[in-house]
Amino acid sequence: MRALIVYESMYGNTGKVAEAIADGIRTTVPNAEVRCLPVAEAEADAVRGADLLVVGGPTHMRGMSTGLSRTLAEKSGAPEHSPGLRAWFRTLPDDGAGVRAAAFDTRAGTKHAGAAADGIAARLTRHHYDLTADPVGFLVDEVDGPLRDGELDRAKAWGAALA
Ligand SMILES: Cc1cc2nc3c(=O)[nH]c(=O)nc-3n(C[C@H](O)[C@H](O)[C@H](O)COP(=O)(O)O)c2cc1C
Repeated sequence: MRALIVYESMYGNTGKVAEAIADGIRTTVPNAEVRCLPVAEAEADAVRGADLLVVGGPTHMRGMSTGLSRTLAEKSGAPEHSPGLRAWFRTLPDDGAGVRAAAFDTRAGTKHAGAAADGIAARLTRHHYDLTADPVGFLVDEVDGPLRDGELDRAKAWGAALA
């Protein structure tokens, strides 16, 4: 099995969740080829050939990040400069048919927090991927993290169940 996890992350939390999901997949399928790539490095060739594609990003302004929200994050001191998943999806070939996929996000978890994972899942479906789980969110305590206690374990378990 070949699994690819693609993530967007400004403060590093979504990247940590992505690595935990990768660990979970490896526990279920020890001989799986599992790659975890930031969106800047996830070119179409890397996506082609995966049997399981997992995509995640931070929730910004109740949905997926935008150029504006990423600029705001950078101006607030976010250490990473990341391209957004919206633009990445526009470069992704429409050939997801027969490939299992799942979407996740990180979010502050306050009332009306919104969910980037819903937009990610909708885009996976539009690219004909076969959604294999409901979109899921992992909570951060503050905008820049850390992840709430137990969330990395939950991400690992979610990855294990996906595989
Ligand atoms: C500009 C901006 C807008 C945000 N809007 C929301 C929001 O609407 N809902 C929410 O739950 N979290 C919101 N957050 C918090 C992010 O979800 C949090 O920064 C993210 O999960 C951290 O992930 P990262 O470390 O991978 O960047 C926002 C953060 C930023 C920087």
